[in-house]
Amino acid sequence: MMEDVIKIEGGYKLHGTVRISGSKNATVALIPAAILAQGPVTICGVPNISDVQSLSVLLRDLGVTVVKKDDNETLMIDPTNMVNRPMVQDAVSKLRASYYFMGALLGKYGHVEMKMPGGCFLGPRPIDLHLKGFEALGATVEYKYGTYYIHADELIGSKIFLDISSVGATINIMMAAVYAKGRTTIENAAKEPEIIDVATLLNKMGAQIRGVGTNVITIDGVESLCGCFHEIIPDRIEAATYIVLAAAAAEEVVVENIIPQHLESLLSKLQEIGVDLDVDIDKVTIRGSLEKLKPVDIKTLPYPGFATDIQQPLTALLTQADGQSIITETIYTERFKHCQELSKMGANINVMIPSSMINGPTPLYGSEVTATDLRCGACLVIAGLIAEGITTIHEIYHIDRGYDNLDKKLTALGANIWREQI
Ligand code: EPU
Repeated sequence: MMEDVIKIEGGYKLHGTVRISGSKNATVALIPAAILAQGPVTICGVPNISDVQSLSVLLRDLGVTVVKKDDNETLMIDPTNMVNRPMVQDAVSKLRASYYFMGALLGKYGHVEMKMPGGCFLGPRPIDLHLKGFEALGATVEYKYGTYYIHADELIGSKIFLDISSVGATINIMMAAVYAKGRTTIENAAKEPEIIDVATLLNKMGAQIRGVGTNVITIDGVESLCGCFHEIIPDRIEAATYIVLAAAAAEEVVVENIIPQHLESLLSKLQEIGVDLDVDIDKVTIRGSLEKLKPVDIKTLPYPGFATDIQQPLTALLTQADGQSIITETIYTERFKHCQELSKMGANINVMIPSSMINGPTPLYGSEVTATDLRCGACLVIAGLIAEGITTIHEIYHIDRGYDNLDKKLTALGANIWREQI
């Protein structure tokens, strides 16, 4: 069978400006949230990624009208004629975020049938907290033959304490609670910027959500929600990827359309590593160099701590630091598949779950590697840019799920990167 691969010839110095797209992890929640409205919702700044295509397929299966405007980044979602059908098609398993339809459909209709959502394999990814939240609002949850049946005659606001501050559970409960009777309180809620973005959309639609960005969120149920217009926040993980990539391979690169406050934990680590960068209101200028990089210790944590999604791309840069760096994962303790792939390129990394020990500096050499998940893909692209020779990355559908035009953006910065069918 033919397969698309990305090939990168390393060693080209990057320069120029790259514009960051709208946040993937906000988008994949905003699209399901839009069906809670009674009229059309227009979302702009939608990234061009395959997760959005998968979600559009799911929306159309529910009878929702989805129109992409000519600028290719504005989506009009009109749920006026939607029908609450069971979501058991293959598209559900293509991405993790299909689970946001659980909260949205439960909130709107009091009933959902959905097969197990998919997504990147990062070790176990349970959804027990989402389901407990739905139950606290009065729903019953049954799991039979791979399908969830969630039902409520009436949803009633309640106090919910999340054992872990889960991004997905916080958003899903918020969506289920917007139409519930009375007040819902989510304690130990997650504080990620994407949650604020989803609440902003819902509030524009007429929801009464307060406290997002803190660990206590209150939702006062409303009777109806209307259509609105919303612009998505910039993708802090895409931004982080380009910033790290520039630190590794740029002469001078400007990463624009960012919110630096969302990247504080990364930017301060990069300063510790010795990366030369200037932070402005909505952009960062990075002057890359692989000389004299210092090793660092990192522990991934919920926002505003160091993001788990960024540790994988950063590992590629740390292979060039002078000494041992240690990364400890507290969110997804098995998220280290990229280390094995980097080792194929010459990196010296020991993985002892939940940590990776990266011993640098080691030269990297172009090899055949596999993007085992989305951020592993980003890590391998960075490694490929600094490696000697040509790196071939397999299973790039993972990269296309979450990076808007990665190869085009990199080509514009002067990288030698291309796709081939083999
Ligand atoms: N958890 C539970 N039970 C639950 C839910 C979560 O035990 O019901 C645990 C998870 O296993 C994990 C921790 O809680 O150990 C945090 O998981 P969370 O629910 O916050 O993650 P998520 O919502 O499934 C989102 C992003 C991930 C990102 C994590 C952490 C989306 C679609 N995904 O996942 O993004 O790594 O938050 O910030 O928003 C990526 O972009 O590559 C990606 C994987």
